[in-house]
Amino acid sequence: MKRYSRITGTGSYVPPRRLSNADLVAELAAKGVETSDEWIVERTGIRARHFVDDGVYSSDLALEACKGALQAAGVEAKDIDLIIVATSTPDMVFPSTACILQNKLGANGGAAFDVQAVCSGFVYALTVADAMIQTGAANKALVVGAEVFSRLLDFSDRTTCVLFGDGAGAVVLEASDTPGILASDLHADGKHVGILCVPGHVSNGHILGDPLLKMDGQAVFKLAVGVLESAARAALAKAGKTEADIDWLIPHQANIRIMQSTAKKLKLPMDKVVVTVDQHGNTSAASIPLALDAAVRAGQVKPGQTLMLEGVGGGFTWGAVLLTL
Ligand code: UT7
Repeated sequence: MKRYSRITGTGSYVPPRRLSNADLVAELAAKGVETSDEWIVERTGIRARHFVDDGVYSSDLALEACKGALQAAGVEAKDIDLIIVATSTPDMVFPSTACILQNKLGANGGAAFDVQAVCSGFVYALTVADAMIQTGAANKALVVGAEVFSRLLDFSDRTTCVLFGDGAGAVVLEASDTPGILASDLHADGKHVGILCVPGHVSNGHILGDPLLKMDGQAVFKLAVGVLESAARAALAKAGKTEADIDWLIPHQANIRIMQSTAKKLKLPMDKVVVTVDQHGNTSAASIPLALDAAVRAGQVKPGQTLMLEGVGGGFTWGAVLLTL
């Protein structure tokens, strides 16, 4: 009998420090950086974001998200045999945030590693976990997106610092006789490295280059709109489905205008799109599982429905996962 993988529980966590646009605008004004609630809402749809306090790391946010996902799935941490954390903000250079998380969870012994695909990280991680479950390399996985992007922001650059937030989302993915994950479609084009990057690196005890986020927003925007449509169509074709089969589109939460334009291209009304960018900002690899969990817990997204998850971001990377919940 063919093995499939299926999401059996979701969880998420945002740190308690919430900054509304008004809070952030006031903080930035004190530093001589001019922006406004009107500009942020109109151009991005963002109204608030959460930032960690000092001493809190991606693995801490991931731990809380995983506790929620495990509880929802009715699975104990000791039974997890694979942990994949999608993050661009790991706790340390090495070991992986997944190993640190594994120990905090008390899930020691299974495989654990990080995936680095920036804002597409969660769909990459989910696709890898699905493949490992299908081949029998794993049975019960935690697939996590966790980020502390606030640590990468240049708070003198208004074109980027208003966009991002911190958070984590997780799913339990288990082997199943029925799908589950129906199809995935992943891509990258490394010639666009420079349009969204944190170009610094650690060398001989120093940080070389600039360790703060740089983005050509318009270039990212244009690429994002095209690839989100093509990846969704490719995943649908692989599964023998059409747009009409999608109950919910859960795209990377970067900008409401990108989501609106993707929905329009896929002929989906906005009431089939899960939107949490207003409350979380762009949380990179955490944004899709955060949105998924929020929609599940709100009773919007229900078991048996067909979901299209879509990520896009630095690399340039993009991808889609079509699944039945
Ligand atoms: O997570 C990975 C994926 N990332 C994304 O998907 C981000 C994609 N890009 C975007 O979402 C949008 O391009 C942005 C939200 C980043 C920018 O929106 P835009 O409509 O492309 O604005 P723009 O860059 O064309 O800037 C328009 C104006 C400029 O002023 P001038 O040159 O027209 O006078 C900017 O200086 O808005 C100005 N501006 C701001 N004004 C107030 C840029 N940032 C701000 C700001 N507050 N925070």
